[in-house]
Amino acid sequence: MSDSAPVLSARDLRRDYPMGESPVHALRGVSLEVAAGDYVAIVGPSGCGKSTLLNLLGAIDRPTGGTVAIRGEPVERLSDRERTRFRLLHIGFVFQRFYLMPALTAGENVELPLAEAGMSRAERKARARELLTYVGLGARVTHRPTQLSGGEQQRVAIARALANRPALLLCDEPTGELDAHTGAEMIALFERLNADGTTLVVVTHDEDLAAAAKRVVHMRDGGVVSDTRVR
Ligand SMILES: Nc1ncnc2c1ncn2[C@@H]1O[C@H](COP(=O)(O)OP(=O)(O)O)[C@@H](O)[C@H]1O
Ligand SMILES: [Mg+2]
Repeated sequence: MSDSAPVLSARDLRRDYPMGESPVHALRGVSLEVAAGDYVAIVGPSGCGKSTLLNLLGAIDRPTGGTVAIRGEPVERLSDRERTRFRLLHIGFVFQRFYLMPALTAGENVELPLAEAGMSRAERKARARELLTYVGLGARVTHRPTQLSGGEQQRVAIARALANRPALLLCDEPTGELDAHTGAEMIALFERLNADGTTLVVVTHDEDLAAAAKRVVHMRDGGVVSDTRVR
């Protein structure tokens, strides 16, 4: 991996979903480069391929055609097992529905990816507390997801996504389940993450969230129709 490479470089990504006689052409050739420190919002109507693109960028899914390189590493060349490991160490994901483990405390949820990466118990307890404090939840470490508000659960999900210091944080509609006030707090948190050096790619319907990004990519019908630097 090379330091001079962009954090993310996607070329001519295509994704067809086989659906009997008429496959869905969800992505029809998308190219995107993201430099370290950037903050990119991806917007567009429902069904235009935003989640499909994000899943390819994060090596959750494999393209029908095209390539994705993260920190110069072409991820489609990795085996499934190597890809899982690569994701664990280099990519953070935040989803609309949080996906916390209900039986675990906030701290234990954040510890999971640290444990998978092989960190010792004492170290990961300390790191989980530090991460939860960073997202404003230092007083909620032993709460379970059902004992937390939606906004607090999303903060736990963000702390978990940041656990192994990923090169890239990918978020799919992260404010989609939150009320306006909590959404505004989330937008402020993303700005702070980015100011502290996290590279962000955020799919969103939320105009306020898109307005906070440094760059806005508009999608339609499986393609990018505009890519505008705002800051
Ligand atoms: N697993 C799947 N199987 C078949 N079609 C899918 C699948 N996932 C998404 N699609 C279709 O691909 C298109 C893009 O979906 P998606 O990426 O989820 O859009 P967005 O996130 O912009 O709303 C839509 O037409 C959707 O119905
Ligand atoms: Mg979507």
